[in-house]
Amino acid sequence: MSLRPNFPTTRMRRLRYSKVVRDMIAETALSPNDLVMPLFVCPGSNVKNPIKSMPGNYQLSVELLVEECGKLLESGVKSVLLFGIPETKDEDGTVATHDHSIVQTACRAIKSKYPEMYIIADICNCEYTTHGHCGTIIDGDVDNDSTLETLSAQAISLVKNGADMVAPSDMMDGRIGHMRKKLDENGYEKIPIMAYSAKYASGFYGPFRDAAESAPQFGDRSTYQMDVRNAEEAVREVEMDIAEGADIVMVKPALSYLDVIYRVKNTFNFPVAAYNVSGEFSMVKAAEANDWIDGNRVMMEIMTSIKRAGADIIITYHAKDVADILNAK
Ligand code: PBG
Repeated sequence: MSLRPNFPTTRMRRLRYSKVVRDMIAETALSPNDLVMPLFVCPGSNVKNPIKSMPGNYQLSVELLVEECGKLLESGVKSVLLFGIPETKDEDGTVATHDHSIVQTACRAIKSKYPEMYIIADICNCEYTTHGHCGTIIDGDVDNDSTLETLSAQAISLVKNGADMVAPSDMMDGRIGHMRKKLDENGYEKIPIMAYSAKYASGFYGPFRDAAESAPQFGDRSTYQMDVRNAEEAVREVEMDIAEGADIVMVKPALSYLDVIYRVKNTFNFPVAAYNVSGEFSMVKAAEANDWIDGNRVMMEIMTSIKRAGADIIITYHAKDVADILNAK
């Protein structure tokens, strides 16, 4: 790298006058192939509950969810990340381990109409526990090791019912190794694990907790999710998950953590997913609704920045809109 820029011989603007040249030397390219759309499935039929804090997103009953998958495929979005709103909840989330549970039912329905849709199942207990925490409560604490059992049971049941990949988002220690072992013992050694490795205790999840009805009823998630101030710790989390058998590692949220995405990509050279979470989405929508920003332009800029930082995969509620814009080019 030259340390002495040589003006006027060197003029950075020379390569900026033509769009053709700008496109030739662009360092980052977005494609619908990079995108995963999160969807929320709920009981009932013909249910389409708008999620107020996430304009354009809905809790959908199974047949409408399947319909939505068809629209996503038409736009070139080939993968969805599923979250469930169950009929009933219990103390430890066992309701999510049965074949007739809501996400399992959704997986079967999607696969029977659109077998090509790649289903990633979020694995966590917070949508399924009465207290809204991500694991079993023992003596006022989210108990790590017993939670591993329900998580792995949930994963196996989802895979059995059609999920193509599992994505544990609970942040218990040792869950990747536990889940890999259980998957393999059950003959699912070909199913990849996308680990929510560096998942922060973030205020940006607010709208999601409305959508998934999963807000903790007491306390917060700071005894298991990461402290916002730490980046080196994120590298250690990722290192452990890779050692335990993660196939893809995730950083979440994305926008306030682009430095973490960059570090993780550069340290491990491993497939990296970034989750552009609900609050990041809703901020864009709110500003757009007020005519304060050009929503589509800002959306594309955000997507590009996440890729530029080093993410291979972007999980985003903007997925369909981004794909539609890319396809129109
Ligand atoms: C479940 C889970 C959460 C999100 C994804 N999986 C919520 C949380 O940890 O409270 C958040 C996603 C979003 O905000 O879009 N643990």
